[in-house]
Amino acid sequence: MLQQLLLFLLLSLPPTLSLNQDGLFLLQAKLQLSDPQNALSDWNHRDATPCNWTAVTCDAATGGVATLDFSNLQLSGPVPATTLCRLPSLASLNFSYNNLNATLPAAAFSACAALLHLDLSQNLLSGAIPATLPDSLVTLDLSCNNFSGDIPASFGQLRQLQSLSLVSNLLAGTLPSSLGNISTLKILRLAYNTFDAGPIPKEFGNLKNLEELWLAGCSLVGPIPPSLGRLSNLLNLDLSQNNLVGDIPEQLVSGLRNIVQIELYENSLSGALPRAAFTNLANLERFDASTNELTGTIPEELCGLKKLGSLNLYENKLEGSLPETIVKSLNLYELKLFNNSLTGSLPSGLGKNSKLQSLDVSYNRFSGEIPARLCDGGALEELILIYNSFSGRIPESLEECKSLRRVRLGNNNFSGVVPEGLWGLPHLYLLELVYNSLSGSISNSISGAWNLSMLLISGNKFSGSIPEGVGELGNLEKFVANNNSLTGRIPKSVFRLSQLDRLVLGDNQLFGEIPVGVGGCKKLNELDLANNRLGGSIPKELGDLPVLNYLDLSGNQFSGEIPIELQKLKPDLLNLSNNQLSGVIPPLYANENYRKSFLGNPGLCKALSGLCPSLGGESEGKSRKYAWIFRFIFVLAGIVLIVGVAWFYFKFRDFKKMKKGFHFSKWRSFHKLGFSEFEIIKLLSEDNVIGSGASGKVYKVALSNGELVAVKKLWRATKMGNESVDSEKDGFEVEVETLGKIRHKNIVRLWCCCNSKDSKLLVYEYMPNGSLADLLHNSKKSLLDWPTRYKIAIDAAEGLSYLHHDCVPSIVHRDVKSSNILLDDEFGAKVADFGVAKIFKGANQGAESMSVIAGSYGYIAPGTTLNLNYQTNF
Ligand SMILES: *[C@@H]1O[C@H](CO)[C@@H](O)[C@H](O)[C@H]1NC(C)=O
Ligand SMILES: *[C@@H]1O[C@H](CO)[C@@H](O)[C@H](O)[C@H]1NC(C)=O
Ligand SMILES: *[C@@H]1O[C@H](CO)[C@@H](O)[C@H](O)[C@H]1NC(C)=O
Ligand SMILES: *[C@@H]1O[C@H](CO)[C@@H](O)[C@H](O)[C@H]1NC(C)=O
Ligand SMILES: *[C@@H]1O[C@H](CO)[C@@H](O)[C@H](O)[C@H]1NC(C)=O
Ligand SMILES: *[C@@H]1O[C@H](CO)[C@@H](O)[C@H](O)[C@H]1NC(C)=O
Ligand SMILES: *[C@@H]1O[C@H](CO)[C@@H](O)[C@H](O)[C@H]1NC(C)=O
Ligand SMILES: *[C@@H]1O[C@H](CO)[C@@H](O)[C@H](O)[C@H]1NC(C)=O
Ligand SMILES: *[C@@H]1O[C@H](CO)[C@@H](O)[C@H](O)[C@H]1NC(C)=O
Ligand SMILES: *[C@@H]1O[C@H](CO)[C@@H](O)[C@H](O)[C@H]1NC(C)=O
Repeated sequence: MLQQLLLFLLLSLPPTLSLNQDGLFLLQAKLQLSDPQNALSDWNHRDATPCNWTAVTCDAATGGVATLDFSNLQLSGPVPATTLCRLPSLASLNFSYNNLNATLPAAAFSACAALLHLDLSQNLLSGAIPATLPDSLVTLDLSCNNFSGDIPASFGQLRQLQSLSLVSNLLAGTLPSSLGNISTLKILRLAYNTFDAGPIPKEFGNLKNLEELWLAGCSLVGPIPPSLGRLSNLLNLDLSQNNLVGDIPEQLVSGLRNIVQIELYENSLSGALPRAAFTNLANLERFDASTNELTGTIPEELCGLKKLGSLNLYENKLEGSLPETIVKSLNLYELKLFNNSLTGSLPSGLGKNSKLQSLDVSYNRFSGEIPARLCDGGALEELILIYNSFSGRIPESLEECKSLRRVRLGNNNFSGVVPEGLWGLPHLYLLELVYNSLSGSISNSISGAWNLSMLLISGNKFSGSIPEGVGELGNLEKFVANNNSLTGRIPKSVFRLSQLDRLVLGDNQLFGEIPVGVGGCKKLNELDLANNRLGGSIPKELGDLPVLNYLDLSGNQFSGEIPIELQKLKPDLLNLSNNQLSGVIPPLYANENYRKSFLGNPGLCKALSGLCPSLGGESEGKSRKYAWIFRFIFVLAGIVLIVGVAWFYFKFRDFKKMKKGFHFSKWRSFHKLGFSEFEIIKLLSEDNVIGSGASGKVYKVALSNGELVAVKKLWRATKMGNESVDSEKDGFEVEVETLGKIRHKNIVRLWCCCNSKDSKLLVYEYMPNGSLADLLHNSKKSLLDWPTRYKIAIDAAEGLSYLHHDCVPSIVHRDVKSSNILLDDEFGAKVADFGVAKIFKGANQGAESMSVIAGSYGYIAPGTTLNLNYQTNF
């Protein structure tokens, strides 16, 4: 209403504003569009006609708007179809490459009586395709939108239509056979839609004028209708990426007299290729039937086509040899036959008549030599022959083939020396020669291959040393040369390669040291130097390589210590076995998980138990059995001794008081022990002190059986400060009573205790990584990554949870702090120091005893009385 009023006003304005009717319609259409770039800013009321406006072209004869080309203007909003259809001469409307979003009414364009070309491709339109379109349409392009629903059957009535493109939408249903009625159609593109599974309508064979049929990815099933062979004007047939089955029909091939390109790849076609039929296809340039189940041989008739440029038959079940006729083609640039069962040798003239670019015949059973004239055309970029039985030497002619980028000759039976020039081809990107019998050395001319990214030559007989020139290959990512006979030193320059990701030189005869500067390969992921004769020390720079996660230096003569810096790596594989390493294993690796990483290093035997079993397999079992017998005898002897001592003790208890020095009024053990109190006392020397506090000292004691224990020696209770504690049981007894009863993986184990006149001893399991507090506040902090910290927190919480919930009666620790959390060799946490713990007998009693709680300042639960009773922290 408002618009009409506006229009009326505009029309009734004085003649100075004399924009014609077409112009007014366009301005009205503009109002409906969103134009964020102001692309249509020159549309105005001042001009007499819109013919000079952006996107507008007028008909020369009538002066009416004939063509609107809005392509690439970033317009959005709905298509102003109704308004634009009022332009009486509008013949072409192009909205391609915009952001039109909205649905189209079913009759949106039905009023566009003169419209010939409608292009709405590359927008964001959705909903159904308008069923009623003007009969006049010649071109309809709705590609690359989100149209859904079926293709309207009414399209069959568009009797002028020459080009229909609905590629890449969300169309459903099956292909309507009525499209076969549009006899004017030259281009039919329905590819890549979400159609339901259905056949190719045989009526499509009626489209006598068809030049392009593009039905890739249309969920087509069933056989290819032979009627398509009637499309004698067809230039381009693409039925790829469907589920078509059956043979490639003879009639199809023989009928397509003008065809230039046939794409049938990624279907389930079977049977043999029709032979004679191909002789008619004088214009065929490209034939692709790859990834099907075709059997039989490759027809000579196909190979002999003069214009054939690209032949793709890979991933089929083809047999026999490649016909000699392939040499006749003057256009052949691409030949891909990989993953078949082809045999025989390649035609010797292959490549001499055309500019061959790409040859891939890998995964077949070809034999014989590489044709010498492959690169006569000077265009060969890809030469891929892997997994065949090719033999002989690599032809000298390839030295001159400057165009080569990818050369893959691996897993064949090539022998002899690699032509020197091949190493240094200027565009070479990948050189793969693995698992052949090639010999000679890597030429220093390799430095000319400045774009080389992968050099893969494992499993040959290459000898000589690695040339310095390798270090100039700034793009080298993979250098894999294991299992050869390379000698000499690893050139320093190799470790300057900043892109290097895999360096695999294992199983050679390299010697010397790993050169300094290995830290330069910041992207190095895999370093495998196993089984060479390398020596010297392991450079600590290896630990600085940020992404190294495979390090194999086994089977060499490396000596000296293992650098602690290697702990910074998080390797999937670490193998330093079979070297001459000595000293200690970095703590992070000193555990069973990494045992196989350090085998066969006599100097490391002491560093990790079980690393050097002196007796192998069976005898080891035997010795274990003997050890058990010995232990049994010891225990028996021990019992006899204890009985004797007990008897002695009762007989002579009166003598007891007169004894001086250490004597044991109480020796309680809570676990089966492999040591005696006498041994411990002997070993308490000032050298062994690992901590001391107000109430005593802590010693680290290595027992004769190899075990480590921590011994806490408390001063006499009278030396301890506070009366309120003295009035209760002293710390010693609390701790003994509490800990002796507890067995939990997150609580420090108390092996035993003893009480003598002037001191008291508590023997604990030894915790190699000390207390959490120490670790947090000293330089080893870097060992504590977040996963480890998290694990420590969980462990400690489990220990406490056990005390609170699982012990009967419950125990309250009352002094939880980082110095009372101790860490074992794998950073497992255990709660320690129960000097002020309380047995929590019942609610009332508990509340009472809580009021006299002791602990360290800052670690006591809130609301309890502060009471400075220093504990021994160890
Ligand atoms: C279009 O613009 C050109 C100059 O830019 C002018 O010469 C011509 O007369 C204009 N045509 C119309 C129909 O306004
Ligand atoms: C529409 O414009 C695009 C981009 O300029 C062009 O490629 C396409 O051919 C045009 N469509 C028609 C039907 O002319
Ligand atoms: C179309 O796009 C415009 C601008 O991005 C947006 O404001 C509008 O909501 C969209 N309309 C629909 C129907 O998606
Ligand atoms: C178009 O369809 C795709 C796939 O269903 C969807 O991800 C996308 O959001 C749709 N775009 C519009 C504009 O509707
Ligand atoms: C279109 O072709 C079908 C057969 O595919 C036929 O039955 C139908 O009558 C034709 N429709 C028109 C409108 O010509
Ligand atoms: C070719 O065949 C080999 C072995 O049969 C298989 O490993 C490989 O994946 C196949 N290649 C392709 C591209 O499918
Ligand atoms: C490789 O060649 C040798 C002779 O040079 C031959 O004995 C051997 O069988 C061949 N191997 C293969 C896999 O063809
Ligand atoms: C280097 O190799 C890469 C990978 O093939 C290629 O993309 C690039 O074009 C090559 N550069 C030159 C200059 O040849
Ligand atoms: C080394 O290569 C030979 C033959 O090329 C092969 O038999 C052997 O298994 C390979 N060794 C390793 C460790 O790959
Ligand atoms: C390291 O290599 C040796 C042989 O050299 C092997 O026995 C051992 O299992 C390897 N270790 C690992 C962790 O793979």
